[in-house]
Amino acid sequence: MTKSERYTLLQKQVESLVAGESDRTANLANAASAIHEAFGFWWTGFYLVKENQLVLGPFQGPVACTRIPYGKGVCGTAWERRQTVIVPDVEQFPGHIACSSASRSEIVVPLLQGGEVLGVLDIDSRELATFDAEDAAGLEPIAARLAALL
Ligand code: SME
Repeated sequence: MTKSERYTLLQKQVESLVAGESDRTANLANAASAIHEAFGFWWTGFYLVKENQLVLGPFQGPVACTRIPYGKGVCGTAWERRQTVIVPDVEQFPGHIACSSASRSEIVVPLLQGGEVLGVLDIDSRELATFDAEDAAGLEPIAARLAALL
């Protein structure tokens, strides 16, 4: 299966997981697990905007930083830019917030609702350059679907 085929399946899986469930924690928790398991990522989870900070939400993987300010780190940058940020080598990203020293590359996709960022989907890999435009294209519809439920 190609990466894009895997994302198509994952999109369907997430859709079936959230269909008929209105609880946001339940939906984000199952979505984090589905994404994490589909690709065997190192860390997969959500940060939600609360009182002008990103606060840790449902995730899979090792313990993580709980609060990220606007414009800080990869997550805060995706929030500020209101667009997906792909980091092939976290050591080359100024201001990267290292929650885990094992993380080498990262993608952050904003959860956008009517142009407003309600949170971000953050995925970390232990390998360099794991994420590319295909991951962004596969994850953005999932982020949009989840944002619509927030
Ligand atoms: N590396 C992120 C922080 C979150 S952890 O990766 C889970 C960042 O720079 O925003």
